[in-house]
Amino acid sequence: MKPHAPLGLQQTAAPPDALGRVLGDLRISVIDRCNFRCPYCMPEEAYPADHAFLRARDRLDFDEIERIARVFVSLGVKKLRLTGGEPLLRRDLPGLVAELAAIEGVEDLALTTNGALLPKLAQPLRDAGLQRITLSMDSVDPAIFRRMSGGRGEVADVEAAIAAAERAGFGPLKINCVVMRGVNDDGVLDLVTRFRGTGHVLRFIEYMDVGTVNGWRGDRVVPGVELVRRIDARWPLQALPRSATSTSRRWRFRDGAGEVGFINSVTEPFCGGCTRARLSADGKLYTCLFAHAGHDLRALLRAGESDEALRATVAGIWSHRGDRYSERRAELRAAGVLEHVEMYRIGG
Ligand code: GTP
Ligand code: 5AD
Ligand code: SF4
Ligand code: SF4
Repeated sequence: MKPHAPLGLQQTAAPPDALGRVLGDLRISVIDRCNFRCPYCMPEEAYPADHAFLRARDRLDFDEIERIARVFVSLGVKKLRLTGGEPLLRRDLPGLVAELAAIEGVEDLALTTNGALLPKLAQPLRDAGLQRITLSMDSVDPAIFRRMSGGRGEVADVEAAIAAAERAGFGPLKINCVVMRGVNDDGVLDLVTRFRGTGHVLRFIEYMDVGTVNGWRGDRVVPGVELVRRIDARWPLQALPRSATSTSRRWRFRDGAGEVGFINSVTEPFCGGCTRARLSADGKLYTCLFAHAGHDLRALLRAGESDEALRATVAGIWSHRGDRYSERRAELRAAGVLEHVEMYRIGG
């Protein structure tokens, strides 16, 4: 008897994109709502309480997300990250995590959250198979933190989230801080003080011109090198080697108290190693954080396309990808290209 061909999906990596970059990560936004209103992402004026977010039926359900994730994994994706909006607002998120954790070939399953709802969810997420958590914390000063979350968040809640993640057995956390000149940049050394020696990795992110409503101005960006200089003057730093696909430049404290990272997307773009695809909660595939439009995978799913047809579509989209917005920022902005998908729809 002839052996049967395997019944599962074909497992062949997607062709590299037009700039030779492989498909390596899928970032999945599970909801476009957020309980914060960070001025750099969802300023309150632009997103009042009655803003029309996606309706539940417009969002992919868990089985649809799992199916798309499986297609991406069959094309070479090894890292999945859940984002929002605020992903913990999606009901029964641990149920989705369990489905994704069961996909063969997923090596890394992570979550980016503002942490406000983490104390109750850390353990169920861990039990479901979540491997890593990235938390946002823009200041240790309660008043500045409040301002950076649009009056919605409290430092104490992030501290409770960190404690809950530690208790649930998550390893070192990544802590993201978006730095805005004149708003929270004075608090950089205090944040470093808080996280040095804890094992958690603090990363400073340059304020970016994502979306269309955050009123971005270049003079509000604090270049990562400036922060390195300030931190190094207090606690000497040593540069660590950089991985080709990573967003962050890593430095270690020479006294052995751990490391700190810098995501310098404005002053030192890293598009050359960008292996990231992004899926919005309504099933659109974005090939860049600054894309103005996505490819509608939900329509294909709901029209009854087969997994193999989806695979071919995604591979085709990836092979034509030529995005490198951050490297072309000045030129594109000067040309008036200012239409970008909003950050809360694809989660950073
Ligand atoms: P790991 O590195 O896997 O731990 O992921 P992470 O989400 O903790 O960090 P990552 O470096 O992927 O993202 C952190 C932040 O960097 C995001 O919230 C974005 O603000 C920014 N970022 C991530 N990916 C990109 C990208 O492809 N382009 C740009 N311009 N910024 C990015
Ligand atoms: N600039 C830089 N990072 C941003 N994020 C959201 N908006 C911006 C912006 N304008 C990132 C933050 C946050 C994550 C969810 O998205 O890192 O922690
Ligand atoms: Fe919400 Fe995160 Fe955007 Fe802040 S950065 S408004 S926490 S989605
Ligand atoms: Fe990737 Fe676009 Fe960010 Fe460049 S700007 S690193 S292509 S997501």
